[in-house]
Amino acid sequence: MGQYKYSPLRLSQMKANTAKTELFDDWIRTRFVELNSALEDLYFAQADRANVAGIGEDYKICLEQEGQALIAALLAEGNTDQGFDKAFDLLGNVGLYMAACRRHEITEPSRETKSPLLEASALALQIGASIGVTPRFATAHLTTHNRAVNGRYKRFTNLPDEQLFVDYNTRGILAYKRAADALIKIQPLGISHPLTHDLMSAALVALQQVIESNSDLFEQLDAQRFFHCVRPYYKPYRVGSQIYRGANAGDFAGINVIDLLLGLCQGNDPTYGQLLVDKFLFMMPEDQQILRDCMRRTSLLDYFLAAGDQSQAPWYQANLSLLLELCQVHGETASQHHNQLVEKYISQPSAQMPEQYLDKLTASGPPLPVLLAALEKLRDRRAAAQRSDILTRFHDIQQLKATLE
Ligand code: HEM
Repeated sequence: MGQYKYSPLRLSQMKANTAKTELFDDWIRTRFVELNSALEDLYFAQADRANVAGIGEDYKICLEQEGQALIAALLAEGNTDQGFDKAFDLLGNVGLYMAACRRHEITEPSRETKSPLLEASALALQIGASIGVTPRFATAHLTTHNRAVNGRYKRFTNLPDEQLFVDYNTRGILAYKRAADALIKIQPLGISHPLTHDLMSAALVALQQVIESNSDLFEQLDAQRFFHCVRPYYKPYRVGSQIYRGANAGDFAGINVIDLLLGLCQGNDPTYGQLLVDKFLFMMPEDQQILRDCMRRTSLLDYFLAAGDQSQAPWYQANLSLLLELCQVHGETASQHHNQLVEKYISQPSAQMPEQYLDKLTASGPPLPVLLAALEKLRDRRAAAQRSDILTRFHDIQQLKATLE
């Protein structure tokens, strides 16, 4: 006789829980968006667009209380395991709610020592710990793992600017991932394999698509709307007692896989290693696994540096020139991110911002000049710039270039 996996009681509890999860998901996709959008309209109509205090208080109360009631019902159901995907999705919905409460200053981490959103914190902590990710919404929730229902995926607001930003974040992330996938496949083949050239070419095409995608975003996104109505949803917030940094489009393994496998950044560089350690839990578990694996691998630059005695071989000449082109284009994507996107959408608008708001500006938490200096170093590592204060591959690349005929 076959065995029932679940007792009838457990099965009915699971159904009830699914219904509550769907109710909450439905609220996130509809009413939540309406409330956030109404609040954005009010803030944006002010002379001081950064002010949130005392504006749209009725909307804020609805947002907090309606979300709280839906989450409390889910929490009361207790732990009914419905698999990773559902748990991750629910964590995203709780996270969107908590991020919106932060954006509207219903919560404010510097004002509190623990989040006043008790039920939301409890549910987020339980799910995050059980599936091995940070207990807040992460980039994947809005981009690569954001299911569309009838053509519309989850967002905070109905502003076209937000959709544009998320569309292009997703497009950029997917292109970086394609480049990373191609580079990973070179590892077992080696630098002299006849098919390595195909894989490098595929990575190059993908990185060129990152450049195209970023430049379309740069052309189309309105800086004021982004700065005042989109970016604030990406601020750090508390879950329980701890503050978790905001999500950013870099929270996936692919970008670092490219850094490491090309060899432009190195896992044993303490600053870069710290950056990787800090971002692990913000990535999907499968990305965490991929990145761990890549941290142990030898880079393509190092393989070529060790193959100098074969520099006359046609494969060496063809594949090295493609590798150098890949390094060049990867550096260009980083320069474009820093010199165009960060500059136009963060640095310039923040220069016009009243002083009192400046310390709460960034997604990761540090003051803007500190964040900008860190991003600049990252850009220069990727661009293999000539710098004596940080580790870059400038000299190694010059050495390799000299072996090209
Ligand atoms: C308006 C557009 C964008 C702006 C203003 C912007 C700004 C930023 C900022 C300020 C950070 C640092 C995180 C923090 O605030 O703590 C960051 C990180 C990052 N962003 Fe963007 N970003 C934009 C779009 C994109 C896009 C389309 C991509 C492509 C996938 C991307 C990739 C990254 C990556 C990979 C990181 C992590 C740091 C790194 O490894 O370089 N960003 N971004």
